[in-house]
Amino acid sequence: MNGYRCFSCAATQAADFTGCLCPSCGGNLDITYDYEAVAENIERLGTDRARSLFSYAPFLPVKTPGSRFPLRIGATPLYAARRLGRSLGLRNLYLKDDTVNPSASSKDRASVIAVQRAMDIGANIVSVASTGNAGSSLACVAAAVGMRAIVFVPETAPAAKLAQALSFGATVLAVRGNYDDAFDLCRTASDEFGWFNRSTGYNPFTREGKKICAFEIWESLDGRVPDRIVVPTGDGNLLSGMWKGWCDLKGVGLINRIPKIDCAQSASSAAISNTVRKIRDSGLSNIDWTAVAVDEVNATTIADSIAVDRPRDGLAAVRAIIESGGETITVSDEQILAAIPEMARLSGVFPEPAAAAPWAAVKQMRRDNTIETDELVVCLVSGSGLKDIGSAQKAAGEALVIDPAIEAVRHVLAA
Ligand SMILES: Cc1ncc(COP(=O)(O)O)c(C=O)c1O
Repeated sequence: MNGYRCFSCAATQAADFTGCLCPSCGGNLDITYDYEAVAENIERLGTDRARSLFSYAPFLPVKTPGSRFPLRIGATPLYAARRLGRSLGLRNLYLKDDTVNPSASSKDRASVIAVQRAMDIGANIVSVASTGNAGSSLACVAAAVGMRAIVFVPETAPAAKLAQALSFGATVLAVRGNYDDAFDLCRTASDEFGWFNRSTGYNPFTREGKKICAFEIWESLDGRVPDRIVVPTGDGNLLSGMWKGWCDLKGVGLINRIPKIDCAQSASSAAISNTVRKIRDSGLSNIDWTAVAVDEVNATTIADSIAVDRPRDGLAAVRAIIESGGETITVSDEQILAAIPEMARLSGVFPEPAAAAPWAAVKQMRRDNTIETDELVVCLVSGSGLKDIGSAQKAAGEALVIDPAIEAVRHVLAA
């Protein structure tokens, strides 16, 4: 790491800067690297037998405890989803299964780097605003190292995510309001009480954890670069992190092209997609990023993890989509719900609603003819279906209740 650069005004900060936002314009910061120095160390990649996110230490901006970190985060499987792909005529569909992280979502990637950063700078209380997963994830990772976590969520956050955060011992504050209210309150409280604020997008270290997902996909594919990666998107940090990982690989010369980073959103929470479409409609030459204002919406989707009014990493995500040539795909709640049992039945991977959005988006792209049958497509499965069983039940239906008699089984089979 050699410093920070603002996504909006491009102002730079030295590596010893400890703030979160650009002091010049308030924009989000990107952590920058001396790629020549990183390139000298990349033969160390993958030599760590305990495989985790820290296997990619040369690309991380924190001290690396390696296998000494008490939880294994990252190094999740990339499955060739043949049956699921065949249902749409796709020959090269893969699922990156991030549901197997310790708190069952991609958020652990960001939490572990944020917590390590907090430890590096001597902070001992970490806060976060969350739709649910970032909170349960931070609580999990903080518990593993004995740090205090304070979690701000909207009071409507799914019960499973709250139960996780509480079980891990976090102080959970359920705010009467939406995610955006929780975000603003977390920031005010963190500033007032001096907590290390891990909130998504706001804290530049979150992107650095999420980017490692790209490295793992690249390694699982034996160095091949996918044609497109479909990322479920709310704040846009998962998406900007995915893009950053491929940019890092290109920066050190390990790859020579970047996949299209596609943005899967709910039609009722589509601020980033709306912004990209407006920019594309008005022409792509010489975009002045300082002048780009990311849209705001009134989010209402059932996919709580991607229900965001004001995306907190919006500009970085918009840039990632445009610069990678990615698509923006908006799908309805009905499409998202239908995708849950479809993915589960045809792949064995069980997604929460947000994590089913990429598959719903791929189906939409097939209908729109924007995806070819032989493209190498990766869908990021970012959170487990167990996090929101209400939605899964709505989509998959109820069990058949029968008498404890063989006749009852015969009756069901005959129906
Ligand atoms: C399961 C899941 N998928 C996708 C997302 C979207 O990530 P981002 O808000 O960075 O766009 C989240 C964020 O909470 C999530 O929990």
